[in-house]
Amino acid sequence: GAPVTQSLKKIEPGQQLIVAWRSLPVFIVNRTPPQLAALPKQDPRLVDPGSTGSSVDQQPKYAQNATRSIKPEWLVMIGICTHLGCVPDYVGEMKAEPFDPNWQGGYYCPCHHSRYDMAGRVYQGVPAPKNMEIPPYHFVDDTTVQIG
Ligand code: FES
Repeated sequence: GAPVTQSLKKIEPGQQLIVAWRSLPVFIVNRTPPQLAALPKQDPRLVDPGSTGSSVDQQPKYAQNATRSIKPEWLVMIGICTHLGCVPDYVGEMKAEPFDPNWQGGYYCPCHHSRYDMAGRVYQGVPAPKNMEIPPYHFVDDTTVQIG
């Protein structure tokens, strides 16, 4: 599949845009400071917070960090649940939901209730085994990303 180039200019803080790459949905999110601040607090409840275990191959090396990204605010991620391949819902605001009153928002898979944080890191106690995949990407300039 050919690389896909996407301008980030119109993606407001907290918004998600979905683009197609190799027939896969790629989630691009302009993460807010509160969303970023919530990430390290989730670590004790995640399957593989550092993406060094079961999720070691789920991102390029340059995204194997605390935000799983090149720039902290920009999440670029393949929106496919690692359980059986459904497309998780973006739940950007921090709110409690019936399955977990402590959930800080992120992604919720409607198929079998897997949950992920705002870096696509999977929570313990759900069927999905791994963090969602970060595709190869880079910044063409400050406001343009190329995926693939
Ligand atoms: Fe997402 Fe099963 S496909 S939880």
